[in-house]
Amino acid sequence: MNHFVSPLKEIQVELSTNCNALCVGCVRTDRNYVDTKPWIPKNQQLEPEILLNALKSDFAKPLKKLEFCGNIDEPLAYSKFYELLCQVYEIRPDIKVSIHTNGSIRSPEYIRKVGDLLGKFSAESNFRFSLDGVGDTNAIYRYRTNWNKVFENLKAACESDAKVIWQFLTFPWNSHQVEEARKMATEVGCDEIWIRPDRSTASLKSVDELSELRSNKSPASACRPEGDLSVLENMPPVQESPIHCTFSEHGRIFLSWEAKIWPCCFISNIKYESKAKVDHLQKTVLDKYGEHFNDLNHHSFDEIMAHPYFVNELVDSWQSENNLDSLNWRCRNRCRSSRRRVSDNKIDDKKIDKFDL
Ligand SMILES: C[S@@+](CC[C@H](N)C(=O)[O-])C[C@H]1O[C@@H](n2cnc3c(N)ncnc32)[C@H](O)[C@@H]1O
Ligand code: SF4
Ligand code: SF4
Repeated sequence: MNHFVSPLKEIQVELSTNCNALCVGCVRTDRNYVDTKPWIPKNQQLEPEILLNALKSDFAKPLKKLEFCGNIDEPLAYSKFYELLCQVYEIRPDIKVSIHTNGSIRSPEYIRKVGDLLGKFSAESNFRFSLDGVGDTNAIYRYRTNWNKVFENLKAACESDAKVIWQFLTFPWNSHQVEEARKMATEVGCDEIWIRPDRSTASLKSVDELSELRSNKSPASACRPEGDLSVLENMPPVQESPIHCTFSEHGRIFLSWEAKIWPCCFISNIKYESKAKVDHLQKTVLDKYGEHFNDLNHHSFDEIMAHPYFVNELVDSWQSENNLDSLNWRCRNRCRSSRRRVSDNKIDDKKIDKFDL
């Protein structure tokens, strides 16, 4: 059997459409860098029952890890995050939980409370603080974050029972601070610091360019870019450059804020991209299987995981299909072996750079 995940080990969850920040390379950020893309709806949240019911299902029995890390959300912006985590703990105290955060939201007391609960889950449960610089440098990429608040929250997390990882993405404007960040991470009590490369095109912008774009305060472009699919037409055949799927390899799937199960974050985030790509997803996946085939408002988790898309059709398409109408076009575009980079797919269990206290 070529099931996409067999067995299921991890679920990556996107809880809402909300975030307090506006990072340069984030899929939620509009091209003017001072606004969210207008086609991302505001204040939409996943119903807690959707996640909780999925966790209670048969297919989720082998689950080992829940990662709060969507494409466009700040997990701690979810209105009842702590309450949700308590409910998850009642059902699955045995799993590992990881929370990705920009750290510039909620109070130190709240962070400590969440951290103490995190510490009760399986060992290695962690906060992953994304701090891309020390002091004001952090807000060059992590626009709208406040370093003092971030640092107080980081300290509170370190004082809690949770493991804390400082994730430092390097850009031309912050690489001189790596050693300072390592020292600070040790002093404040972080368990690890991971120095990772930027995997957006943000590094191509200069600090002056970003400041100028932000000071212009241009309104967000109301329409999606049209886009074109020439990049898909010119991809090498899968026989020459095989698809390497880290989601499938790790038994991981993605749950989006609309309660849809996708194989991965890359397929889920197509809906925020160009019109050409959105139309293409519609034609190749949604028209073929129906609008609600992966929707937990319409089907149970077990039913969705028993759908042919997950049971075999996506994985089978990786072996031979090179046509533009294949289910695998995003995979061919995003995950061919020849395109792999060290930071791909946000692998959580791969220590890029680690120190022991
Ligand atoms: C979209 S964010 C959502 C979670 C949370 N808001 C955060 O930023 O940590 C998911 C993950 O992508 C990471 N990320 C954001 N921009 C990135 C970039 N340019 N390169 C690599 N990883 C990035 C974040 O640090 C986080 O670990
Ligand atoms: S904090 Fe996370 S979700 Fe928010 S803009 Fe930055 S990368 Fe995107
Ligand atoms: S886009 Fe990549 S990660 Fe997603 S299903 Fe395809 S191969 Fe896997």
